[in-house]
Amino acid sequence: MKNLSEKVAELSKRRGFFFQSSEAYGGVSGFQTYGPEGAELKRKIENSWRETFSRALGHREIEAPTVMPEPVFEASGHLDGFDDMIIECPECGTSTRADHLVEGNTDIEEAEGFDTDQIEALIKEHDLICPSCGENLSDVEVEDFNLMFETSIGPGSGQTGYLRPETAQGIFVEFPRLKDYMRGQLPFGITQIGKAYRNEISPRKGLVRTREFTQAELEHFVDPEENEPNLDRVKDVELKLYPVSEQEKDDGEYIYATVEEAVEENIVEVDWVAYYLGIAKKWYERIGVDMDRFRFRQHQEGERAHYATDCWDAESDVGSSEEDWLEIAGFAYRGCYDLTKHRDHSGDEKDFQIFKEYDEPKTVEKNTVNPDMGFLGPEFGDKAGEIKQELERIAEEEPEAFEADKIFVEIEDETYSVPVEKCNFKVEEVTETGEHVVPHVAEPSFGVDRTVYTLLVHAYDEDEVDDEERTVLRLSEKAAPTEVAVFPLMDKEGLGEKARDVADKLRSEGFAVKYDDTGNIGKRYRRQDEVGTPFCVTIDYETLEDDGKVTVRDRDSTEQERVNVEDLASYLA
Ligand code: GAP
Repeated sequence: MKNLSEKVAELSKRRGFFFQSSEAYGGVSGFQTYGPEGAELKRKIENSWRETFSRALGHREIEAPTVMPEPVFEASGHLDGFDDMIIECPECGTSTRADHLVEGNTDIEEAEGFDTDQIEALIKEHDLICPSCGENLSDVEVEDFNLMFETSIGPGSGQTGYLRPETAQGIFVEFPRLKDYMRGQLPFGITQIGKAYRNEISPRKGLVRTREFTQAELEHFVDPEENEPNLDRVKDVELKLYPVSEQEKDDGEYIYATVEEAVEENIVEVDWVAYYLGIAKKWYERIGVDMDRFRFRQHQEGERAHYATDCWDAESDVGSSEEDWLEIAGFAYRGCYDLTKHRDHSGDEKDFQIFKEYDEPKTVEKNTVNPDMGFLGPEFGDKAGEIKQELERIAEEEPEAFEADKIFVEIEDETYSVPVEKCNFKVEEVTETGEHVVPHVAEPSFGVDRTVYTLLVHAYDEDEVDDEERTVLRLSEKAAPTEVAVFPLMDKEGLGEKARDVADKLRSEGFAVKYDDTGNIGKRYRRQDEVGTPFCVTIDYETLEDDGKVTVRDRDSTEQERVNVEDLASYLA
């Protein structure tokens, strides 16, 4: 007997939702192709996300390249830290994600935050074996494996580049231009829907863990001192929350709270995160996620990304008999981490900041230096410029240093001594009209493929119609790839022509329509049920003869109604 995920995979392959790509050449795991039904379903989800998270909130969408140069990822921290733990079987050579090996074979549910030593110790303690050949892995080293795909840009030795592991970096690096476009005013949100790439150690079959996938991300740049979310918009939205405190109790209980309560009772620590949980809950509900199989789970301490303060995931239960929770989106408050990193690495001091004007100019005391370059140049040669910059920093951050006779400046492990009288240190009164601040970022980040998968799993159903078993996808009308199927009873005696006319008319009214005249009507209904088409319209002889009526059949109830062909579009709408 097949389980739910096998049934969905089988249906998806058969009916053109998704399947293994490049199968003619054996396929490569981690890559899936969307067939016509799947591509349409995915597009609808993307468009609905765009409508909700971009247009309706007044944000703007961009499209950045998927290949980016190495310095971007040195700055973002991905080059050093975007690793998973890998263990390679010495017997059969299979590589396995070591934390997942522990999670799958012990009582530990979240091993992601552990380090390699802890994971090695657990593998030893539990005598864990290779999932492929059964070899004992107790004495095998666990290593870090960087998940980015490296590439070479241009001919010859070229420049090293990487396929972006998240669409977010394409937004952060363009911040200098985007803030100019936004006329330097906070808050503003930038969205992007596009491909991201991760060289996953153990990709799963289907859409759940692939090496190329689509993210829909929103980076909302805010001034943490001035900007607050408009909680009124979502204050009454009820959230099913699984905070760390409940996870620790492990009794399967959730906290049900409105967004307002979640903020007031500090269940969700950051207001911006709570706000986006509310918007997301409404969106998931609208596109047809089964809310009984949905929750928001707070990240445990060790699980949080390096940049995040409070972080929650949207999770859907895609299991068959027992719960099998899948992360479908993450909601993080990234603070000023990313922009500060890009500011420091790019050397674009001001460009990754916003100039925030004061209401009134302020007179402040400022510590300045005006080093004597006639002395610094001959004395320190090509280091003079850097020493000057460092003196400026010391004046700002450690002015008491100028009370001594000499200032000691450290550059790349060398110490340079500068007589204090050559620095021209002064405390001046200056009038400032504003200050440069690094915006903070609230980030809702959605996995589009996992959303597609969740909708398919939640929509999948089997029932009996006229003593026959049928498979039906109860997709919402917002998600269904085809909204109406139009059939002539048979393609004869003008029925086909009339049906094609009706189909064209519905298309011109904006419906996604499929025309089908192959096989008997029962089979055509079954085909449409399996791809989730909410309505089927049949044209018969009476349509031609009497009052121009058609039969409209409802997918879920299978009930049929006669509708005047003139009223069909408004009836369906
Ligand atoms: N910018 C933040 C970020 O990338 P993430 O939690 O690593 O956060 C966001 O990814 C979402 O992308 C996840 O919630 C998940 O839905 C999706 N995702 C991540 N890795 C994936 C993979 N290998 N295959 C399919 N979807 C994936």
